[in-house]
Amino acid sequence: MHLLIPAAGMGRRMGSNRNKLLLTLLGKPLIFWTLQAACASRHINWIGIICQLEDLPDLKAIAEEMALTKPVRFIQGGKTRQESVYNGLQGLPHNARHVLIHDGARCLATPDLLDRCAEALQKCQGLIAAVPVKDTIKVVDRTGLIKDTPDRTNLWAAQTPQGFDVQLLKQCHETGHKSGWEVTDDAALFEKCRLPVKIVEGEETNLKVTTPVDLAIAEYILRQRQGTGD
Ligand code: CTP
Ligand code: MG
Repeated sequence: MHLLIPAAGMGRRMGSNRNKLLLTLLGKPLIFWTLQAACASRHINWIGIICQLEDLPDLKAIAEEMALTKPVRFIQGGKTRQESVYNGLQGLPHNARHVLIHDGARCLATPDLLDRCAEALQKCQGLIAAVPVKDTIKVVDRTGLIKDTPDRTNLWAAQTPQGFDVQLLKQCHETGHKSGWEVTDDAALFEKCRLPVKIVEGEETNLKVTTPVDLAIAEYILRQRQGTGD
């Protein structure tokens, strides 16, 4: 199974002056943990890291130091995540039938989650990891007034990995590009093209490290996993 890791963001909400994936989390760069899970997955046998040119030397050094046992390709990222994934799809080997896409920023996803997604993808065209939402979600208008409270039993929080048939996802990206669709995940492109996307039970700990609070929570979870938490 081929894996693309979007890692070409700026990390603006983290408030740091560099890509958040290069910040230190328990003594290692954040992306180290994402790559470690990818390497421990039984199904992933090729990794494409989508990144900005300025981060390439650091990312290459991290990959070299990890002595990754799987082939790794670095692919030029774009201005948005959507553009980055599009570039990533062009950088896949020609024999790639299915692809998993997993955000570099979701550094707590377990190898088991990657493997469950890879296995489920053998039997469908599109899927995402997701978890039931815990909060009650409100739809609010521009004036700050609540318009609706959707039934929580129908609401799921989308995560990555997200997995797709490569040819179909490429077509969806091209349709999206021509139609000017702006989306924050790949499933949304599939949905807009009226293609089916399945849910795979995600992990509560699979958070996307976005703000400094997330970094602190991620560090806590990693410490617990290492058995050194107190
Ligand atoms: N990403 C990407 N290319 C972009 C923007 C984002 O590959 N042009 C990646 C990020 O590196 C991250 C994932 O997409 O792994 C999810 O994006 P997000 O959490 O929004 O990260 P950033 O865009 O870096 O953060 P921010 O939105 O706060 O600037
Ligand atoms: Mg972003």
